[in-house]
Amino acid sequence: MVSREFLQELPKCEHHLHLEGTLEPDLLFPLAKRNGITLPAEFPQSVAELEAKYCQFRDLQDFLDYYYIGTNVLIEEQDFFDLAWAYFQRVHQQGLVHAEVFYDPQSHTTRSIPLERVTRGFQRACERAEKELGITSKLIMCLLRHMEPEHCAETIEQARPFIEQGIIHGLGLDSAEKPFPPELFVECYEKARSINGDLKLTAHAGEEGPARYVSDSLDLLQASRIDHGINSVHDDELMQRLAREQVMLTVCPLSNVKLQVVQRVAQLPLQKLLDSNVPFSLNSDDPAYFGGYILDNYAKVAEEFPQWDHAVWARICRHSIEGSWCDDKRKTELL
Ligand code: HPA
Ligand code: ZN
Repeated sequence: MVSREFLQELPKCEHHLHLEGTLEPDLLFPLAKRNGITLPAEFPQSVAELEAKYCQFRDLQDFLDYYYIGTNVLIEEQDFFDLAWAYFQRVHQQGLVHAEVFYDPQSHTTRSIPLERVTRGFQRACERAEKELGITSKLIMCLLRHMEPEHCAETIEQARPFIEQGIIHGLGLDSAEKPFPPELFVECYEKARSINGDLKLTAHAGEEGPARYVSDSLDLLQASRIDHGINSVHDDELMQRLAREQVMLTVCPLSNVKLQVVQRVAQLPLQKLLDSNVPFSLNSDDPAYFGGYILDNYAKVAEEFPQWDHAVWARICRHSIEGSWCDDKRKTELL
């Protein structure tokens, strides 16, 4: 088995990280206080209670119910900056060199917090991370699939200036998957593409939902990579396509265990992805809730796939760099 030191040194990229999912209890409670937010009675009321709850969720929806309550403590531009800056500092210590990070504007605009404020706070943290830590990054806005597609389309309209300028570099789709298939969002993706043809497209698919949601995300939404995507292994034709077109899956090992998608990391179809030449990266999803950041995910996979040698890890690392949305110059630096 490779050592944690070896994994620490690898130039790691993250492609599946929800900034709101980095809200640690030790920031959540101070922010609630700072902003005068009363958390609902059923929500844990102390760091210890919240950490205990973060240990296990029944499924994706059980997690999302907590996640959206936690998000309510974020109000001021400084809060969004503080959240993202805390994340960058933490992962700098874990050997992260490039991050493509999600956020959910609708979690905030539905509470009358303007998209501009959220985006500016995150953007400032990204700029500081590059300047002071050498971590490059891209912002990806996600549409909440449990919201009406019309609301999603309005959100894209609000984001128009940021999409035009490339400050928002990509579009994604998250929240409850199974009841809300990709076909509901075809017009939203078309609209976003019409604003900036260079906008990168991804979507959560095949986490709890079927392989068909993965192929529909590629065909109908024109996504160029897929978040989670692990249920693709149940469809041989799709697997061949992912390999042929080198569509990267952004796999989240600790998340999949905490949300009971699998019982153990060893049950993830990572060997099959490697054997089928389907590229994937390893990611932390919502690290404050799922028990570990990027290096912790790498280390858990190494522990449960002890037969993987340095060459296998170098290949995973290369796929992760090649599948990134940074420019070729940055990729060459990282390779
Ligand atoms: N799946 C769907 N929506 C999400 C997730 C996830 O893993 N994390 C945050 N929002
Ligand atoms: Zn996710």
